[in-house]
Amino acid sequence: MTSPHVLVIGGSRGLGKGFASLARENGWRVTVVARTAPEPATADFFPFDLSRVDGIKELLTSIVAERGALNHMVFCQRFRGAGDDWTGEITASLGATRCFLENSVTAFDLTQKCSAVLVSSVNASFISPKLPCSYHVGKAGLTQLARYFAMSLGENGIRVNAVCPATFIKPESEGYYAEHRDAYERLALASPLRRMGSYRDVAEAIFFLLSDKASFITGQSLVVDGGISLRWHETLTA
Ligand SMILES: NC(=O)c1ccc[n+]([C@@H]2O[C@H](COP(=O)([O-])OP(=O)(O)OC[C@H]3O[C@@H](n4cnc5c(N)ncnc54)[C@H](OP(=O)(O)O)[C@@H]3O)[C@@H](O)[C@H]2O)c1
Repeated sequence: MTSPHVLVIGGSRGLGKGFASLARENGWRVTVVARTAPEPATADFFPFDLSRVDGIKELLTSIVAERGALNHMVFCQRFRGAGDDWTGEITASLGATRCFLENSVTAFDLTQKCSAVLVSSVNASFISPKLPCSYHVGKAGLTQLARYFAMSLGENGIRVNAVCPATFIKPESEGYYAEHRDAYERLALASPLRRMGSYRDVAEAIFFLLSDKASFITGQSLVVDGGISLRWHETLTA
């Protein structure tokens, strides 16, 4: 049997890049989509701007022709561009994810077990006033997209789930939290585990949901927050 082939959308940095490394460590073949190439450069990179969703069907066709059919898709993109954040977030997050999943049946190798994970956030349910409305709506929409496509793609044996992480440390923010121990301690203390999560914690949860170990789980949103959301606000100082 050939090794699983995973498409990582938004795999050039942050969590997506971290997940791509984890998948390669496990012997998976990885293809990355983003606007800019990951560093160091990898041969499996397909440049694409998710603000133009009309080209996604052709993109998937090219990926399958050059790299082979897919077994898994992971959606890690986050809108961080200039311009109107509502249009940007809704298009790059919801519109693009919908387009990939709508065209996934012809891209997946349906002789194998196939699955997708959508990276949402605790902001699908909770409000962070410093983040824009578009982010909250986009993340809530992703959890519902996971449910919708779990239902519509299920007859093809394709599973679709979401993960909802709390703020995690990624390689790009390790320096910040090392310098600002007060910020780290404040967030770490909110978790019963007394630490902040890392991109690796989230990547492992994604890997589990994609794997056969999660073979009867579909349409679910897995909160990956170290238990932070368990705490009632009156106990914050306890
Ligand atoms: N960081 C956290 O603490 C945290 C917490 C909860 C949830 N999340 C979620 O976890 C996911 C990953 O977060 P992150 O912080 O690792 O993100 P990130 O570092 O900002 O990376 C985002 C990825 O999306 C790609 N991307 C953004 N806009 C794009 C576009 N228009 N076209 C193509 N690719 C695009 C970026 O590549 P290019 O810029 O090269 O295109 C990059 O690879 C996101 O969905 C985020 O909302 C993050």
